[in-house]
Amino acid sequence: MGHVLGTTIMNRINLSEKFARLNEHWRPKIVGELNGQEVKIARFKGTFVWHRHEHEDELFLVWRGRMRVEFREQVVELSEGEMLVVPRGVEHRTAADEEVEVILFEPAAMRNTGNVTSESLTAPTGDWI
Ligand code: NI
Repeated sequence: MGHVLGTTIMNRINLSEKFARLNEHWRPKIVGELNGQEVKIARFKGTFVWHRHEHEDELFLVWRGRMRVEFREQVVELSEGEMLVVPRGVEHRTAADEEVEVILFEPAAMRNTGNVTSESLTAPTGDWI
């Protein structure tokens, strides 16, 4: 027997299905939100732009493939099932030699390129998939 939570319908989210519908690189899409944070999925391939987020910590969790999170004096390699939190204020860029599928967790409406504006890489916010 289940419980009825008011009029809220509880919908399971299947991440594989969500990733299958995501085609673009460097364009995170929201799959859930909670407590002012957003859970997003993204495909990365190539090298992102150096940037930092003054007020937001940023989580990267690799779903499929491999990626790097590069800092000015260190490179962190991430494989499937591995994650990293980039602290606010720390300059970084992400890179992937082969396409990687990544789950992101960060405050709602955070700009992916942080303090930098890039015509090709700055992604729209608020996009659900
Ligand atoms: Ni960032």
